[in-house]
Amino acid sequence: MKEKDYQHLPNHFGMVSRRDFVKFCGVAAVGMGLPLSMGVKIAEAVAAPKRPPVIWLSGQECTGCSETLLRTTHPTVETLILDLISLDYHETLSTPSGDMAEAARKKSIEENKGKFVLVIDGSIPVKDGGIYCQSGGRPVMEILKETAPLAMAVIAIGSCASWGGIPSASPNPTGAVPAQEVLGEKIKVINIPGCPPNPYNFLSTVLYVLTFKKLPDLDAQNRPMFAFRRLIHEGCERRPHFDAGRFALEFGDEGHRRGWCLYKLGCKGPETYNNCPEQLFGDAGARSWPVGTGCPCFGCSEKGVGFTAPIVALAELSHYTPAGQPYKTEEGGPKRVGGGALRLTPPDTYAPIEVTEGHGASTTTVAIAAGLAGVAAGAAAVTALKLGKEKTDTGAEAEKKE
Ligand code: SF4
Ligand code: SF4
Ligand code: F3S
Repeated sequence: MKEKDYQHLPNHFGMVSRRDFVKFCGVAAVGMGLPLSMGVKIAEAVAAPKRPPVIWLSGQECTGCSETLLRTTHPTVETLILDLISLDYHETLSTPSGDMAEAARKKSIEENKGKFVLVIDGSIPVKDGGIYCQSGGRPVMEILKETAPLAMAVIAIGSCASWGGIPSASPNPTGAVPAQEVLGEKIKVINIPGCPPNPYNFLSTVLYVLTFKKLPDLDAQNRPMFAFRRLIHEGCERRPHFDAGRFALEFGDEGHRRGWCLYKLGCKGPETYNNCPEQLFGDAGARSWPVGTGCPCFGCSEKGVGFTAPIVALAELSHYTPAGQPYKTEEGGPKRVGGGALRLTPPDTYAPIEVTEGHGASTTTVAIAAGLAGVAAGAAAVTALKLGKEKTDTGAEAEKKE
């Protein structure tokens, strides 16, 4: 992008300079699979004189989803919220409270019919008329039902709002369900799962909707494809260790200290779709994401995995990511949908590989594979499937060998 392309934009976006903001929008555009030049279009959309209104409702939540936004930078979410969008109602962040907050919500909805973005965090209890979560004396279920049809787009942020999350875990005493289930099929909800979700996935989605006035491409679970089309296992920097058969077996053991694969500690990366290894988390520096810090992924964003599968259970290894198509798991085994190729693209950085033992490929093979993207993709796919088979067919023997 050249400076002349965006000179017509304001000098500053809140605390952020025009140049930095356009750069941020450019990176967001690339993250969404759009050309870098689209960054200017995105910046233009958010720089419009009338700030786009956002109404944020909360169901059964822990505030973590709001908290995750408050920890972003480049630009800070404070900038995004307070200077670029008009956050007309947010139960935690709004200055007014009580009747004044309710009045602000109603006024904004009335004045911006069809133009505001509705965000919901937290699951919605439907048991006993939804009495277990109320706002202003009314069940959130009712408020959501009456607000969503008037919105330009509805975004469910976090696993609770996307598929029920923690409140829906068995025995689910409040009848907690995701926003989509409350709203039915007529209204499509964009789900951005995660506990909490990556704030940049949320920011990118908001920017996309505001810029293009339509929803981004979604998968079968209504998750933006740009963020959820690949398994964590595909982009993980510990993947060469997995392929070479080098696993941490206990927290703090030699394998764990050396950055080996966390599969045998229960890592659910092989069955969780998310962009955590690429997008990273928390702006705390390099490799700041759960697996990068030595913690197995527990599948927080994946329905049927996070808060459902036992933490130490071994993940299934046979999920495919068809190009441009949602995956589908059917009885009798996973199936590809749409005939796309198995997508396994290695990451551009790797955890250190310095140990010669292992029962898979040799160190040299892995090092070469790491440098040759195409070769690595093929080798990784074959080894992953082989290891998956080993677990399924002779899991007990494999464990004994360790
Ligand atoms: Fe909290 Fe996680 Fe639910 Fe977000 S998804 S409200 S962080 S429990
Ligand atoms: Fe990474 Fe987990 Fe896959 Fe190992 S199992 S490569 S730690 S995502
Ligand atoms: Fe959640 Fe796993 Fe990413 S636990 S944050 S989906 S690495």
